[in-house]
Amino acid sequence: MAKIKKIGVLTSGGDAPGMNAAIRAVTRTGIYNRLKVIGIRHGYEGMINGHFKELKAHSVSDIIQKGGTILKTARSKTFRTIEGRKQAYEKLKAEGMDAVVVIGGDGTLTGARKFSEEFDIPFVGIPGTIDNDIYGTDYTIGYDTALNTVVEAIDKIRDTASSHNRLFFIEVMGRDAGFIAYRSGIACGAEAILIPEIKGQVEGLKDFLEKGFKRRKSANIIIVSEGDESGGAFSIAKKVKKDFVDYDVRVSILGHMQRGGTPSAYDRVTASLFGHAAVQALMDDQKSVMVGMDNGEISHCTFNKAIKKNKTLDVEKMDIAEILSI
Ligand code: F6P
Repeated sequence: MAKIKKIGVLTSGGDAPGMNAAIRAVTRTGIYNRLKVIGIRHGYEGMINGHFKELKAHSVSDIIQKGGTILKTARSKTFRTIEGRKQAYEKLKAEGMDAVVVIGGDGTLTGARKFSEEFDIPFVGIPGTIDNDIYGTDYTIGYDTALNTVVEAIDKIRDTASSHNRLFFIEVMGRDAGFIAYRSGIACGAEAILIPEIKGQVEGLKDFLEKGFKRRKSANIIIVSEGDESGGAFSIAKKVKKDFVDYDVRVSILGHMQRGGTPSAYDRVTASLFGHAAVQALMDDQKSVMVGMDNGEISHCTFNKAIKKNKTLDVEKMDIAEILSI
């Protein structure tokens, strides 16, 4: 394969704290290796529309500590069509781009896989989503920061829950996965955690609340993952309210605050390592792979595997959460 000289970098899908650290690492690793680095704005949408701007080493100064993404992001419907991807290819060719690093979650990697099957410009992926739901990496950029944001918010809610002896249903993000709910639940000592990976939890919850009420637990925090089968925190709260009229029930949806804020040290370091590894992978002639973390070491996983396989949450450990909340 001809030596690559010019690479693009983009962020796509939901933003995640640490994406800027990854952009910085891609840019500076590229420049260090005498590559031209082009920032593609607004994700795949920007690729289709040719929104390109060269990034110099100083273009990524003072961003490692910032949430969001300086390149902006989007969920592109057009890139899901073959016409859209063809248009993107033509823009990349016209710009003389030899390879692209994409930073994002499941949708971003799915787009990258399709494009790589159809066209001859190599793509390498970096997992960036607060959901941590990508197979082939223990860890996705943004997860640690989001978790800390959630924990801080729930600690505050517990103060008021205890003062009023209330039962709180707190909904956290994680479209199809319960990673944020599960870990924040353990970290906050939640009385129960409802996640999409486990079915039929509502009956058990009623049982649990029955016992809790008898024991006069002063406050209860129930964490509900947004993708849970119960239909979200409002819906489950409504059901529970009917059976437990003595409980003073409140609902709190944490929402998009979970996606913002200064990235944690862990996210900054991981994103920096991922950015460096992604450029290295392209220079080693790799393509259609996502860089990731496997037991503390940088790993590579094909787009195919990363998308098609489901990353499983170790549901057996839910027992521990239950034991610790008696
Ligand atoms: O994938 C990250 C995520 O924050 C999910 O947890 C959530 O379901 C989704 O994005 C929300 O997306 P949007 O910002 O487009 O509403």
